[in-house]
Amino acid sequence: DKSMRERAAAKGLIYGAASDYAILLKDPEFADRFGKECGILVPEGMLKMKGLRPTPTTFNFTRSDWLLDYTQKHNMLFRGHTLVWHNLLPDWFKETVNAQNAEKIMVDHIKGVAGRYAGKMHSWDVVNEAVYPWDGRSDGLRNSPWLDFLGPDYIEIAFRAAAEADPNALLVYNDNRVQYDTREGETMRTVIFKLLERLKSKGVPVQALGIQSHLWGDEVRFNPEKYRKFLSDVASLGLKILITELDVTDLNLPQDEAERDRIVAKTYEDYLSVVLDEPAVVAVLNWGLSDRHTWLSELRARPDGSPVRPLPFDRDLKPKLAWNAIARAF
Ligand code: XIL
Repeated sequence: DKSMRERAAAKGLIYGAASDYAILLKDPEFADRFGKECGILVPEGMLKMKGLRPTPTTFNFTRSDWLLDYTQKHNMLFRGHTLVWHNLLPDWFKETVNAQNAEKIMVDHIKGVAGRYAGKMHSWDVVNEAVYPWDGRSDGLRNSPWLDFLGPDYIEIAFRAAAEADPNALLVYNDNRVQYDTREGETMRTVIFKLLERLKSKGVPVQALGIQSHLWGDEVRFNPEKYRKFLSDVASLGLKILITELDVTDLNLPQDEAERDRIVAKTYEDYLSVVLDEPAVVAVLNWGLSDRHTWLSELRARPDGSPVRPLPFDRDLKPKLAWNAIARAF
């Protein structure tokens, strides 16, 4: 039977997932399946600033180099996440970075990291989660050290530095919470669209929107028409779209596993069948491939204590209904 990466490729799309060094190194059975199923790997943590920067002047590329090597052995693409984020900053950040040196530190970081993998990256999440309209700013940007020290232009400075460091990677603005037909979803769509429009009008080299797509296992709040419109509005700015961190939380779903798997699968299918109608979409990545390794085990543990089932493969690496649903959507 055909793998997901083959099914996606047959439609001109890329399918893959997040994983990380410790997992792929210590779980060879999983690493082997991952290589067969995925056409692209994004490191879940090892390319974040905290993982890469032991001191303000040094880089530790050992683990990310190992991951690049793994992708090359499996004939996969490699994707970067993330150069500029408010979260997972190194321990030295707080006492070292200030308004005087922040631009140099950010640009040196981007040049060091994107430069290291120049020509080898499919795409980079240059800026991650810069929008958070509930922080009380009129432009809807999130309070972060980068914003505090550099003002809203930090986004533009980051994209320009990334384009210089790696002219070949697709440069992505990545964010979450845009998919639902709620006040929150509506606000995020509006603010993100305005941000992208402003960046494009200034000639900033942003080339794609990454939509994380951490979904909840119920589709009642999803409005296909409004979402289609958002995707096509983004595309009309000349941007590609990537689904970058897809998973389906089953925290709120019934205990019965078969029932839960059906709802999770339906959530995947309802979402992806809308998303994949948009020609600007070029890639779909799950945030993890198997329920054996998922950040949701801790973050969205079920009240009944049963293990979470958010991903296409179960803990024994058997494909679930979710796998079939994703395959059908391709
Ligand atoms: C998460 C990882 O999955 C965790 O292992 C880590 O501890 C925290 O970060 N949005 C993002 C990702 O952009 O970087 C986050 O990844 C999940 C939410």
